[in-house]
Amino acid sequence: MSDDSSILLSVENLSKIYEPGEERISILNGVSFRLKRKEKMTVTGSSGCGKTTLLNLISGLDSASGGEVTMENLRLSQMNEPQLTEYRRKYIGFVFQFHHLLEDFTALENIFLPAYLAGEPFKSAKKRAQTLIEKVGLSSRADHFPAQLSGGECQRIAVARALINNPPLILADEPTGNLDEAHSEKVEQMLFDMVENEGKSLVLVTHDLRLAQKGDVRYVLTQGRLHSR
Ligand SMILES: Nc1ncnc2c1ncn2[C@@H]1O[C@H](COP(=O)(O)OP(=O)(O)OP(=O)(O)O)[C@@H](O)[C@H]1O
Ligand SMILES: [Mg+2]
Repeated sequence: MSDDSSILLSVENLSKIYEPGEERISILNGVSFRLKRKEKMTVTGSSGCGKTTLLNLISGLDSASGGEVTMENLRLSQMNEPQLTEYRRKYIGFVFQFHHLLEDFTALENIFLPAYLAGEPFKSAKKRAQTLIEKVGLSSRADHFPAQLSGGECQRIAVARALINNPPLILADEPTGNLDEAHSEKVEQMLFDMVENEGKSLVLVTHDLRLAQKGDVRYVLTQGRLHSR
């Protein structure tokens, strides 16, 4: 039985219109869904349909033209920039297409930096990072720099980093889009396992229909709206 308390994220009638010049470009036009705790949602759709835009609205990196994003009981439209920054830090872990690891820091440091920056004591942040790096199977690479790691390994570090602040929601934007098939399968499986084992919710954007099938709820984004698939 699901009740409202099991809903983590609620998106209501979201729209996004760009008006770069004379013209109005409507990207999202009435996107609505609810995501439960521990639920995994996948979104596919052709290039340019608005998938990244949707993630940016959920994370408050971009503001909607209409509609509302509600996390637990927090309405994003009511928040100012510092509140949105705090919201992202507390609620969201990101995994992008490219890992965006800091080249001058080791794998372990990359994982624990967000926790340290959020004010967690160095020792406990490092300890949690060590647990996470173990879970992604890369403890032996803790002291290596990103340039010494493969693309797939960097993505696994990025997954661990996304989890360091213990956010309830992971947003992943084509996290394996940069990898060959063998590596992407490993990263995908690990992403799903980690999200599952850590009890997180997931919104995963992907071009890969096989990967999209792994979602508990599956949508395709076309003409500005989500359709079940
Ligand atoms: N600042 C902007 N001004 C005008 N149009 C924009 C702006 N940002 C994005 N767009 C347009 O919005 C549309 C959706 O972009 P978005 O990045 O969300 O697509 P996507 O589904 O993630 O595509 P891809 O699969 O290629 O990553 C695109 O047509 C893009 O050109
Ligand atoms: Mg995109």
